[in-house]
Amino acid sequence: MKIIQITDTHLVPSGGVVNGVDPERQLRAVVADIVARHGDADLVTITGDLCNDGEPEAYRLLSDIVRPLACPVRLLLGNHDRRPAFLDAFPDHPRDASGYVQSVLDTPHGRLLFLDSHEAGTIGGIYGADRLCWLEESLASAGPEPVTVFIHHPPFDAGIGHFERIGMHDGGAILRRLAAHAGGVRHIVFGHIHVPMAGTSAEGIAYSSGQSPAHRFITDLALRDPWWTSGNPCYRILMLDGQGLRAYGVEVGQVPTARAPVCDGP
Ligand SMILES: [Fe+2]
Ligand SMILES: [Fe+2]
Repeated sequence: MKIIQITDTHLVPSGGVVNGVDPERQLRAVVADIVARHGDADLVTITGDLCNDGEPEAYRLLSDIVRPLACPVRLLLGNHDRRPAFLDAFPDHPRDASGYVQSVLDTPHGRLLFLDSHEAGTIGGIYGADRLCWLEESLASAGPEPVTVFIHHPPFDAGIGHFERIGMHDGGAILRRLAAHAGGVRHIVFGHIHVPMAGTSAEGIAYSSGQSPAHRFITDLALRDPWWTSGNPCYRILMLDGQGLRAYGVEVGQVPTARAPVCDGP
């Protein structure tokens, strides 16, 4: 199964610039590359901070940009989003019975869980009792199937100064629930930090983030106020199959410098 992850698109109404970057231009380049190169994708997910300021016009722009994608698209909310404006633009998008934008998708390679960690007025992630109840039910009904989790806020300490106080405020509840799942957790796929990151939790759960195609941080773990920068439009390919989950970063617009030799055999 081929899943394309885009994260932290931070769209604003057409022509706007955020931290020195035009997010619409970046996302349009990403989508054009996916359409050209990944017609076999089974799913595209954008893991939150879809829009920078939550304007209805920005969500309508997002709806327009993703329209050429041939496969299903699952969208997550991040701290920059606004749930009512999102739901106005995407009224048919899957959500749970409480109205949170979270859902499950069963595949031949286990259950995908899309979690909603957005809370209006809070930069960090919130995942309270009602959402935890949904998570527990979704894990229980997965039975022995492994799960792969998609969420905006990393549900652990990312170890980056800037995110020290704006990470997930759940006291480790999500990780504890996931670690108890009998079918195991293939991976936690997240966004929010605008820095490529991969690791393994103390519970043994593997995780990794995508990079934002919009503004991104110059990686500095200690700084509380690091600089933003720009870069090539980017996304990730997530292959979920009998090998487990493998994630590959893609940059749009890379310039070839030399052709690699053909390597045959062992
Ligand atoms: Fe973001
Ligand atoms: Fe965020």
